[in-house]
Amino acid sequence: MQGLRRQRPPDLRVKQEVILMKVYLDHAATTPVDPRVLAEMRPFFSQTFGNASSLHSFGREAKEALELARARVAKLISALPDEIIFTSGGTEADNLAVLGGVDSARGKKVVCSAVEHPAVLEPCAELGRRGFERVLLPVDREGIVDMHVAGRARGASLVSVMHANNEVGAIQPIAEIAKFAHDGDAVFHCDAVQSAGKIPVDVRKLGVDLLTLSSHKIYGPKGVGALYLRKGVKLKPIVFGGGHERNLRSGTENVAGIVGFGKACELALREMPRESRQLYSLRDRLLKKLLAIDGAALNGPRGAKRLPNNVNVSFGAIEGEGILLGLDDAGIAVSTGSACSSKKLQPSHVLLAMGRRPEQAHGSVRYTLGRSTTARQIDFTARKTAEVVARLRRMSPFKPGEDLSGVDFGGHHEEYVE
Ligand SMILES: Cc1ncc(COP(=O)(O)O)c(C=O)c1O
Repeated sequence: MQGLRRQRPPDLRVKQEVILMKVYLDHAATTPVDPRVLAEMRPFFSQTFGNASSLHSFGREAKEALELARARVAKLISALPDEIIFTSGGTEADNLAVLGGVDSARGKKVVCSAVEHPAVLEPCAELGRRGFERVLLPVDREGIVDMHVAGRARGASLVSVMHANNEVGAIQPIAEIAKFAHDGDAVFHCDAVQSAGKIPVDVRKLGVDLLTLSSHKIYGPKGVGALYLRKGVKLKPIVFGGGHERNLRSGTENVAGIVGFGKACELALREMPRESRQLYSLRDRLLKKLLAIDGAALNGPRGAKRLPNNVNVSFGAIEGEGILLGLDDAGIAVSTGSACSSKKLQPSHVLLAMGRRPEQAHGSVRYTLGRSTTARQIDFTARKTAEVVARLRRMSPFKPGEDLSGVDFGGHHEEYVE
């Protein structure tokens, strides 16, 4: 055995170290399926495969599993099981809320924040094309909706503001905004895709009418989500067919996926206190190390106004994409605030709305931590980021802090980050 080990070629040893050092810090984009979730899902692919609408025992078993999952999802957000409508994910739930929740009888106006995910921005834009007035609520430098301008929501049929932002982790004062929307008789929708499972989400305390959830952000499978619909709130379907999900979302339910989503919600609720304490500590450790890098600046709020797993930093005068690729070479997965299209690079609409200049928005990097993140990974990531930034800075024609107001970095947003 000793002899064999001595004979192992040195290049293999290098490869092994790189594999051991793989660090995934893109949990806001998606999370791995938790093994406990996978174990619960497995029988529903081939053993308990019935259609939940069928009347025989196979169908009844599937229906029972569906209803258990519904109760678990409801519990995560302190809702009632029959206030949960399963969908194919957060995007569909957002579309159902916005397009199905507006009622032109209440006013032909739809309002959302300027930092919403495209899953909300785009259906609002569609309503604009259908003759609705569309208003984007501005945010302050930390990404929080400016309540001084909330008056612009008056006369709206529907107001939609996300609980926590996917790029900078800013947590909105939802209860306050919901009250404002209700004072004006609007229906209030909240996208809680990034907050649920990380911070407490209680639909009664938040005072929301509609709320979006997604399974794959909380260690459940992809392609499953839910819309909370408060009892008594009217909603029109946007998908028509066999009348599943109380006639609000037709289509045979994805039983295995929904079972996984339910288990993921149960685990998230149980593990949130311990997990969030750990995430806050690792987040602040990373933040402290990154902000020590020359020219680094935090995007978004600090402390409890920020998601426990989100760090977003601009490195001034260097492209975020360059940093992302440099870190990827080192085995570290992060994301940029701007999405890269094949034709051109567009700065993040979120950072622009927060008053960042296009070159600052271009230079941002998002690190989102998760269940398996360790202090060792954080230290490794901070060290590698400093190395990549120093290397790119040596190659950059610009210096940190240099006045770049005359340089064209683009400023429109056509593509978005997850
Ligand atoms: C805030 C927010 N809303 C909605 C979505 C869309 O969810 P899904 O990927 O389940 O369609 C995402 C996904 O990135 C998100 O971050």
